[in-house]
Amino acid sequence: MQFELTEEQIAVRDAARDFTQNVLKPGVIDRDTRQEFPKEEMRQLGELGFMGMMVDPKYGGSGMDTVSYVLAMEEISKIDASASVCVSVNNSLVCWGLETFGTEEQKQKYLVPLAKGEKIGAFCLSEPEAGSDATSQRTTAIDQGDHYLLNGTKNWITNGSSASVYLVIAHTDIEKGHKGINAFIIERGMDGFIVGAKEDKMGIRGSDTHTLMFQDVKVPKENRIGDDGFGFKFAMKTLAGGRIGIAAQALGIASGAYELALAYSKERKAFGKEISKHQAIAFKLADMATEIEAARLLCLKAAWLKDQGKDYATASSIAKLYASQVAMKHTTEAVQVHGGYGYVKEYHVERLMRDAKITQIYEGTSEVQKIVISRSLLQD
Ligand code: CAA
Repeated sequence: MQFELTEEQIAVRDAARDFTQNVLKPGVIDRDTRQEFPKEEMRQLGELGFMGMMVDPKYGGSGMDTVSYVLAMEEISKIDASASVCVSVNNSLVCWGLETFGTEEQKQKYLVPLAKGEKIGAFCLSEPEAGSDATSQRTTAIDQGDHYLLNGTKNWITNGSSASVYLVIAHTDIEKGHKGINAFIIERGMDGFIVGAKEDKMGIRGSDTHTLMFQDVKVPKENRIGDDGFGFKFAMKTLAGGRIGIAAQALGIASGAYELALAYSKERKAFGKEISKHQAIAFKLADMATEIEAARLLCLKAAWLKDQGKDYATASSIAKLYASQVAMKHTTEAVQVHGGYGYVKEYHVERLMRDAKITQIYEGTSEVQKIVISRSLLQD
């Protein structure tokens, strides 16, 4: 067992840390307040190779491993979880899905600009009546011979208005249940594709989350991903990797809050000494450091399994379930360590506490992760 990072992995982590501190941090409070997508910052992240981190260089990616991706996600999420969810969706859900299951033509046309960060992608599964129960979606894509006709509504779509490539999951034959589902590549600007309202969210307010409507959108046959009926498995396999990204996001939110609480506790004095010297605070810091390290190891283990070509679906759900619990718990504790200052925007921890909550909800709620984990425990 090897716990040391390679020189290359350390270099990726340090590059993400530098970028985050120098470019993302200065405007993050303002973007959160104004619900502003970090457009220019995402462009720069793309130029640095963070939007197609694991994609083969022949398709415009950086050819890195999943461990490096976790390290970068942690660093970006310490400061700006709105930027990191965009990084995560583009890398794990869109680029990975296209590289693993797309045709050569689909890769050349869509993956290359996404991996280079020239375009942003979105993954569209959730619907008003189908969140955790992914089979129950109502969007349909009816086979019309030379094309499919797509109709329906998707909601809670990350990168909803900033994306130009959308992977949309839809029923092609509702009678067949999950075997009658397919995934399609939809381009921004196709007739009948409407980007609807933006959500006014509690956290990750810089991320653009939208409802999308499809009204008789003509989808070319060559835009279907995989064989007929592969869409549900496509979504499940893609989400299994996506959960590593969101676990790492939760980890970063927690470790960002911990680092702020640690620094503050060494400066702030009360009752004649730094508050870190009071056991009430010191024990909080010890709990935070311990549980964050455990979350980090779970994220790295899931990433390592994926890099080894081993099954990682259960490990990624375990990492996401635990890291998101840690994020919620310890961002709340970080606010507590800061006292009244923790409740105001200037000190960053209140934003991290708001951002933490979504990690227990998207890419499968905590309850969905428990379904995945318990099924793997109980299968014959
Ligand atoms: N890999 C490969 N195949 C898988 C799989 C995986 N990880 N998980 C399931 N499957 C297969 C099963 O083997 C089964 O195939 P067969 O019939 O051939 O045996 C098929 O898929 C159906 O599986 P289940 O019976 O387990 O399906 P289910 O309906 O009971 O699924 C569930 C249960 C795990 C809760 C699933 O519905 C699920 O993951 N729901 C959550 C969806 C989700 O995460 N939504 C988030 C939206 S995306 C998002 O948030 C993006 C964003 O913008 C941030």
